[in-house]
Amino acid sequence: MHFTINGAQCDADIDVRTSLLDLLREHLGLTGSKKGCDHGQCGACTILVNGRRINACLTLAVMHQDDEIVTIEGLGAIGDLHPMQAAFVRHDGYQCGYCTPGQICSAVGMLDEVARGWPSHASADLARPIFNDDEISERMSGNLCRCSAYPNIVDAIREAHAASIESEQAA
Ligand code: FES
Ligand code: FES
Repeated sequence: MHFTINGAQCDADIDVRTSLLDLLREHLGLTGSKKGCDHGQCGACTILVNGRRINACLTLAVMHQDDEIVTIEGLGAIGDLHPMQAAFVRHDGYQCGYCTPGQICSAVGMLDEVARGWPSHASADLARPIFNDDEISERMSGNLCRCSAYPNIVDAIREAHAASIESEQAA
């Protein structure tokens, strides 16, 4: 199998039953993506595949031949954080941190969905969804936080969204 993971080419010889999450964690040592439930219920394993957020525990690695995969390790680095990572730090959007990689990957994918104009269950106008805290809560509802850091997570995402709009307008 061949993948692009965090910008690097990667070949792996794996059992066809291997989940994408186990490929990352157990075979490649990318342990930033967390295994919370292994059943698609907590969002701790959220990563980006071809720019879309998915639960890595719910998909088999063999389904991702030649896909572009980005995990929390590929979003930013110490000293060069992704704007979403920096916003989580600024707003203290975590306590134990176990859910945080999934929260951040999910938030990055979610803002891309917003930029594309995709509505959510909370959107009053499906043609023109308005981005607000209700939208953030609904769109991030697949990512659970046992420490209940939700208010600060919402603050961080709101700020990252505002910053991305500002930089788009400045460009
Ligand atoms: S570990 Fe994948 S959703 Fe919980
Ligand atoms: S920060 Fe502990 S589970 Fe979210």
